[in-house]
Amino acid sequence: MNAKLLVPSALRPAARRVARAFRPVRHVAPLCGPDLRARVEVVRACPVGEAGRPFDVTLRVTNHSPLPVGPEGTHPVGVLARWSCATGAACDPCDGFAPLPRAVYPGESVTAVFRAPAPGYLGDYVATFALGQRGGPSFEAVGPAARFDVNVTHPFDAGFNYLDIYSKADLGRDHWSASGPPSAAEFERLKPIKLDLLKKLGLTPDGRLLDVGCGTGLLAAAAEAYLSDRGGYFGTDLAPEAVEFCRRTYRRPNFRFAVNGMTTVPAPDAAFDAVAFYSVFTHTYPDETALLLAEAARALAPGGVVFADVFTSPLVSRSAGSRYAVEVNRDHLLRLAALAGLSAEVVQALPWVGPATREFFAFRRK
Ligand SMILES: C[S@@+](CC[C@H](N)C(=O)[O-])C[C@H]1O[C@@H](n2cnc3c(N)ncnc32)[C@H](O)[C@@H]1O
Repeated sequence: MNAKLLVPSALRPAARRVARAFRPVRHVAPLCGPDLRARVEVVRACPVGEAGRPFDVTLRVTNHSPLPVGPEGTHPVGVLARWSCATGAACDPCDGFAPLPRAVYPGESVTAVFRAPAPGYLGDYVATFALGQRGGPSFEAVGPAARFDVNVTHPFDAGFNYLDIYSKADLGRDHWSASGPPSAAEFERLKPIKLDLLKKLGLTPDGRLLDVGCGTGLLAAAAEAYLSDRGGYFGTDLAPEAVEFCRRTYRRPNFRFAVNGMTTVPAPDAAFDAVAFYSVFTHTYPDETALLLAEAARALAPGGVVFADVFTSPLVSRSAGSRYAVEVNRDHLLRLAALAGLSAEVVQALPWVGPATREFFAFRRK
């Protein structure tokens, strides 16, 4: 029997709408029109993501349009992920599309894990999720936009820890790579370069130098040939193996070495003309950096200078990264320095990864 005959003519438009809403999804062209509406809500997401690795987020998607939508057809419907930088800085686009797991009928919701690409660089980002079609118009959002703050850091398996590195190193055979340089030649090449930067900031042969994070003595070796007997060198490091190596290797009477804590330096007050943190703040988190800056300010003689290199990035609100490399926001670093009573001046800058820079700072008492 003809179905039309069963439905009174006045009810036929409504019946047509109901039939349309429940027919199988078969879009072969983009959906369009003012009726494309959906609500997307974040159910669960991790506030930390891994640079360049997929980011999983659990979303609830409710279809508020009069059509069923789904992953089928030439313009599959799914979740569009958009990333922007929380600091307002421009960042590389890495928008993604993840199709719905199944058809969603009008008024119906689906909750599923969607996988989005994550930005390639460390930073603080806002991820925004909306329903859309690959190659077609997006759906109008019903309710607030689904957004989530994500601190993007190094891949979680990039474990890095100096205490581990030195405890496993054979410093008698290779004393350079544990502290960074990939070869003995590079370790040698860097010695005069690192000392010269301090000389430019005013270190004289009679100067008293505190080298925090001295490693296996790259700067100690350069200072051994530069400082007079009136000057002095004090090297400290977290790693007892590095300190022991330095004690055995650099034996001038006015050269001393000691182990220091993560945020404490066993140095006397106001005893040093220069305090160096070479490639140390590149491995400490801002709270630790702030405490080490306060220690340096305490150990600094009047007119002295604190020197440190830091990775700064405009994509970072305060900090991002792991002990392998910590990137900070420059303004945040300057605020921390000010809290330690120090003013800061950038004396050199080199490119680092992506938009990040390796900046060399001279800090002085205000
Ligand atoms: C990249 S190496 C640089 C070594 C040396 N400053 C140089 O320029 O060759 C970093 C060193 O800092 C040390 N370090 C890391 N955090 C530290 C901290 N909170 N206090 C003292 N040393 C630290 C590590 O053990 C390591 O020896």
